[in-house]
Amino acid sequence: MNGKSKNSSQDRNRSSTLQAGSSFDNVEPRVGWVALPIWFLLMLGVLFFWADTYLSDHGGGFSAKLYEPYGSPEELAAAHPPKGDDSTREGKKVYQRNCLVCHLDTGMGGGDVPPLAGSDWVNAEGPNRIVRIVLDGLSGPVKVAGRDFPGVEKVMPPWRDAITKDEDIANLLSYIRQEWGNKAGPVTADEVKKIKTATKDHTSSYLAVDLLKVPDKE
Ligand code: HEC
Repeated sequence: MNGKSKNSSQDRNRSSTLQAGSSFDNVEPRVGWVALPIWFLLMLGVLFFWADTYLSDHGGGFSAKLYEPYGSPEELAAAHPPKGDDSTREGKKVYQRNCLVCHLDTGMGGGDVPPLAGSDWVNAEGPNRIVRIVLDGLSGPVKVAGRDFPGVEKVMPPWRDAITKDEDIANLLSYIRQEWGNKAGPVTADEVKKIKTATKDHTSSYLAVDLLKVPDKE
């Protein structure tokens, strides 16, 4: 009998503790996992999806060269078309492969290599002399843009056997005649072909004095 009544008083105690527990202050902090509300997870999912879409639309494939508003290298290229037409663009490639090493990216040459930028040889009205220079080379003293170059240790090599396509030489010359502020007209593959045929027996590099005897233009 006694034991029973003790039990029931314990029950009462427990239920009064439970009631007190519903008050906020008495909640014991617990360690453990609590499920996140589903709306929070959904929102996080939507946020990640949006961020991912934004990055793939605007991130430019994480290229260091791209920034807003350009989303891809293609978009950037389309907004900045390279200057010149197809022939000067092709000519630039020929230049970079063969001539850049001496005349440099700036067309300024350096040391005993004369500049092509602002050169009277390059900007001549007709291509008669520069086609010859490129085909068979140039050595000995030459005056370019008011300066004298010795043409002894550094000479202009011949390209007749190295750049064999007339079109490549035409594009190359069109390019150097219009780059770096040069303003001369384009050179055609037919013009190159004609000069190539006329000089096919020429075997040594030119001297400037001999070239000056060749009319600059037909
Ligand atoms: C190995 C170095 C070298 C390379 C490569 C070279 N050149 Fe030259 N170029 C020279 C030198 C040196 C001269 C001057 C020669 C002289 O003093 O007689 C010259 C002179 C010239 C000239 C006449 C002078 C002037 O500056 O206008 C032209 C035009 C020219 N080069 C174009 C070209 C082109 C086009 C190419 C590529 C196909 C080329 N060069 C590749 C060294 C080079």
